[in-house]
Amino acid sequence: MTASGSRARSALCALVACALLSASGAAFADDAQIEQGQKIFKDQGCPQCHGFGGKGDGYLLGMLKEPVKMHDWTDPALNQSWTDQYLLDITKKGGEAIGKNKVMLKYGNKMSDEQIRLVIVFLRSVAAKPTP
Ligand code: HEC
Repeated sequence: MTASGSRARSALCALVACALLSASGAAFADDAQIEQGQKIFKDQGCPQCHGFGGKGDGYLLGMLKEPVKMHDWTDPALNQSWTDQYLLDITKKGGEAIGKNKVMLKYGNKMSDEQIRLVIVFLRSVAAKPTP
């Protein structure tokens, strides 16, 4: 092995280490976003209907005049069937404005797009875990 060969190899190692670092950095950022999204979800009272884990089993449902059909966010196929745009729209404008259940209120006046985006990151994360 020549000196230049080993220099090249250590440069390559540095590159790989750097790639690994940034990969774990990204994963860390994702976790932080999920946590932020979950906090916003809780602070806004969404679990009252959607349940803390997004299963659609909130305690408020039993108190509504009419029964509502909630969706289980932990169902991977169902979760993936929604586009980010749809999830943003229904949260911002409420169900009624887009022809869905009016029990889902509009939150566009209470939440910023960025907050809603973080809640969507949380919504996506609950389906990534295997269902118990
Ligand atoms: C009073 C009960 C209630 C509360 C509180 C509530 N939702 Fe909903 N939400 C619903 C219902 C019912 C639907 C289903 C609408 C439909 O498909 O007709 C829904 C649908 C949604 C959807 C689309 C995916 C799905 O499950 O169909 C998103 C995203 C959503 N809600 C986010 C939120 C967020 C974020 C909050 C808190 C800021 C919140 N919801 C609070 C009742 C509620």
